[in-house]
Amino acid sequence: MTKQIFMTRRIPALAEEMLRAAGYEVTVSTKDGVLTRDELKSALVEKQYDGVVSLLTDSIDADIIATMPPSVKIIANYAVGFNNIDVAAARARGMVVTNTPDVLTATVAEHTVALILTAASRIAEGDRFIREGKFVGWDPLLLLGMDIKGKTLGLLGAGRIGSEVADILHKGFGMEVLYCDTKPNEMLESACAAKFFATHEEVLEKADIVSIHVPLLPTTQHLINAERLLRMKKNAILVNTSRGPVVDELALVEALKAGTIRGAALDVFEFEPKVTPELLALPNVVVNPHLASATEGTRTKMAEMAATNIIETLEGRTAPNALA
Ligand code: GLV
Ligand code: GLV
Repeated sequence: MTKQIFMTRRIPALAEEMLRAAGYEVTVSTKDGVLTRDELKSALVEKQYDGVVSLLTDSIDADIIATMPPSVKIIANYAVGFNNIDVAAARARGMVVTNTPDVLTATVAEHTVALILTAASRIAEGDRFIREGKFVGWDPLLLLGMDIKGKTLGLLGAGRIGSEVADILHKGFGMEVLYCDTKPNEMLESACAAKFFATHEEVLEKADIVSIHVPLLPTTQHLINAERLLRMKKNAILVNTSRGPVVDELALVEALKAGTIRGAALDVFEFEPKVTPELLALPNVVVNPHLASATEGTRTKMAEMAATNIIETLEGRTAPNALA
């Protein structure tokens, strides 16, 4: 029987091409947007699917997994993060879950550095200033920013992406690198003379730029809260390209209003796609609609990876990116 694949939304065409070339039938949701829980449930039982491509915007929780037909052998998440999937529930039903690591590391790191530079150099504020017709001539005191050369980068999470951010900022901008993670990263230490700290507080107290690169887990939800924001330097900038709920967004608003920290650059939001309105009223916040992996090249490689994971699983081999 022809194997059936369901995709919750259109992704770059290469995935479909690869799956069709493998002889599978591919059904792509025709909705231009995220499927609601009910839409997802009914879509998943339309055919005896063998594989599902899900997005980080699909909540594949135990309830959704329970509604999937038993024929589903693999859920290929089109993202490196997989907090949207109840992996244990999937595994309990004998399903493989895969993600798309590595191919997006450089892209996300570049985007993170771009956000850091945008916030430090006040580029978004300058852009708005001109568009609002306020530019009347060079001004010695206009929109003064912050140098980052020689300053201190504090990483919360030093996996692949955090390490790549450190590499760019240490080698390109001479930044000193401090990091906190569940364990030391020797490669990062030798590549960037990075210093390990066992507590987040120590990193927050010393860093001029704090960049978050942890997965969203029960233990990292609100990792940045009111108390920890108070530990940061008054002149520090907080950058988040990981997952929104890692930061208590209301606490961040309060800290920015009170001048506890200098600014923030956010690619992700606690209540995504909603953004806490007060954040948007603050000039020292740079916001971006979850774009850190959004280059043509990387999104195509992610599509290839998701398709490969499905094909390998359905052909009885081991998916290269099966979550342990
Ligand atoms: C994007 O946020 C991803 O996890 O790939
Ligand atoms: C996160 O998954 C990373 O690659 O750092």
